[in-house]
Amino acid sequence: MITEENLVQENSAEGLLSPKLPHFFYGGDYNPEQWPEETWQEDVELMQQSGINLVSLGIFSWSKLEPRPDQYDFSWLDRIIGLLHQHGIKLDLATATASPPPWLARLYPETLPVTRTGVKLWPGSRQQYCPSSPVYRARAVKLVRAIANRYKDHPALVMWHINNEYGCHVSECYCDVSAEAFRGWLQQRYNSLEALNEAWGTAFWSQHYGEWAEIYPPRATPTFINPTQQLDFNRFSSDEILTCFELEKAALREITPEIPVTTNFMGFFKPLDYWKWASKQDIISNDTYPDPSDSISTFEAAMVNDLMRSLGGGKPWLLMEQTTSQVNWRAHNSLKRPGQMRLWSYQAIGRGANGIMFFQWRASKAGAEKFHGALVPHIDIEHSRIWREVAQLGGELVRLDPLLDSRVNAQIAILVDWENWWSLELDAHPSSHLKQLDQLKSYYGPLFRRNIPVDFISPDGDFSRYKAILVPNWYMVRDEPAARLEQFVAGGGTVVMSFFSGIVDQNDHIRLNGYPAPFRKMLGLRVEEFDPYPPEQVQQIQLKGGGTYQCSLWSDIIELEGALPMAYFKDDFYAGKPAVTRYGFGQGLSYYLGTQPEAAFMTHLLEQVCKEADIQAELAAPEGVELVKRVRGNEVFLFVLNHNKTPVELNVDPYDYNLLGNTPVEQTLHLAGFGVAILTGAKVK
Ligand code: GLA
Repeated sequence: MITEENLVQENSAEGLLSPKLPHFFYGGDYNPEQWPEETWQEDVELMQQSGINLVSLGIFSWSKLEPRPDQYDFSWLDRIIGLLHQHGIKLDLATATASPPPWLARLYPETLPVTRTGVKLWPGSRQQYCPSSPVYRARAVKLVRAIANRYKDHPALVMWHINNEYGCHVSECYCDVSAEAFRGWLQQRYNSLEALNEAWGTAFWSQHYGEWAEIYPPRATPTFINPTQQLDFNRFSSDEILTCFELEKAALREITPEIPVTTNFMGFFKPLDYWKWASKQDIISNDTYPDPSDSISTFEAAMVNDLMRSLGGGKPWLLMEQTTSQVNWRAHNSLKRPGQMRLWSYQAIGRGANGIMFFQWRASKAGAEKFHGALVPHIDIEHSRIWREVAQLGGELVRLDPLLDSRVNAQIAILVDWENWWSLELDAHPSSHLKQLDQLKSYYGPLFRRNIPVDFISPDGDFSRYKAILVPNWYMVRDEPAARLEQFVAGGGTVVMSFFSGIVDQNDHIRLNGYPAPFRKMLGLRVEEFDPYPPEQVQQIQLKGGGTYQCSLWSDIIELEGALPMAYFKDDFYAGKPAVTRYGFGQGLSYYLGTQPEAAFMTHLLEQVCKEADIQAELAAPEGVELVKRVRGNEVFLFVLNHNKTPVELNVDPYDYNLLGNTPVEQTLHLAGFGVAILTGAKVK
């Protein structure tokens, strides 16, 4: 029997987020500057008690660290870092550039960001900077250098936290400085105005540009803005903010080449192309705030966790922020129920996280976030439910180091393409109700409910690592990934693709040789027309040799060119025409969905796909019980997560040991409501 005691203890470097802290990370944002120094001693003692080993320090400290231009004050930071170090707490030290001090706006008003409609965003909140501003960038890098030079040799320094949630409040800026930067970015991309005019299709509506100076960001206009201009502005804005990150990173690399860097992501965040961003991170980290009062949260959180693992190519990632209890920014801020914080933490670990952190350590007594949950609540700390749960999780994580090196293995992937996301949701399309995230969820949901592990893959990713690739609405596609997807199927892979795919090239120009142009051969069909429905309308499809299902949103009118119909439309003038098709192409299989079928159909279809591709679920589980496996060599750790409020039982043979609580399990596992087990066993391979 494998028990906690006889698990191999060494982890390879790949299993560690940072070699300087070879354990599960456990901690949170720490804002000591909000408190008198007498509180600090209590803070560090409580941290020790609860198993905290890392704090993100100084995220919003710029105005304290540089109270006047070029006058730095590190004295308070020195004192708190010293105290933390004495108590064995490590540092995820922030570069403090997320919120400039008020003096920056007063001295350099051009650093303030401007919205699409021309509104300037002022100090008094946070993130009030234009990402293209040379002044902001230079001031930020100067601060970063000062911090890095001061703490570069500090033994507690484990990693750098660059800025904070880039783009969260200001993901685009339309000011004059940004306009100039946009022109520069366009010159790099197109070289000549002719090429830009061609790419933007400016022959339309008299938009032809005769000089670069005539070009602006897509500010408010009388009606629909040029789509390629919008798309390029999305690309520019993501790149421009990434440059801010890279400038800080370059300074840190020069001063502390060995210390890993991260900036915290925000799940499926549309404005930033996280594939591009991920390649620049040493550690992928994420902030996640699922709504406890929404039953879909469990599933959405799992999906985000899988994205984070996928962004890092499968390597361990860090849950940088979650709340212990509630947030303060929804219309109503429900509490996580007892056990739910622990459950969702293990959900992240099960899906590849090697650290659990929170916003924030101690609940603020002033400011806009004073009603946000924290590890240390306002009153009665040690008797509070929150504190007990925090200490329990901390006590468990210190014993789970043997899991650090294990990985999640998925055989099926869902394609996510940020540029496609931007262009798919541009205005003046057949339907404005077609949303990328809804479509991703329609694929992810059935697999999640069947406990089949899923990765996300970028259009530039290695398709050959998977048996099947699911491709929702790949509207805008470049030639090269389209050709690779075709090769993937020809070589024996399975693809499931849905409507409104292969429609435009990277300039958002229609591919004219029949929809879905680059995939017609692979799918064995042609789409002649699209018929989007009003949001409340549903239609019916008939599965060949099976039942009737509802579909919504959209009908493609499909002409077959080799594919076989799998389901038909039952309504309207295209009744009897194919709605879902299947085609053996080369040695592989392609499926096409010409509509959005209801979840029961998606489940049926994806079960068939998994069966044909030999992709297996782990065990059968009751409704609401999530199973996910981490594997190291021939050791398997099965996470069993009961998202129900009520207890469940399940047969877990051949697993025979629960690492949480150190208990043997005889065939049947009994789990309390919101309970978790991490199972292993000698017989498990
Ligand atoms: C984000 C920020 C934090 C805090 C939390 C509140 O994650 O990074 O500073 O504002 O939101 O939920």
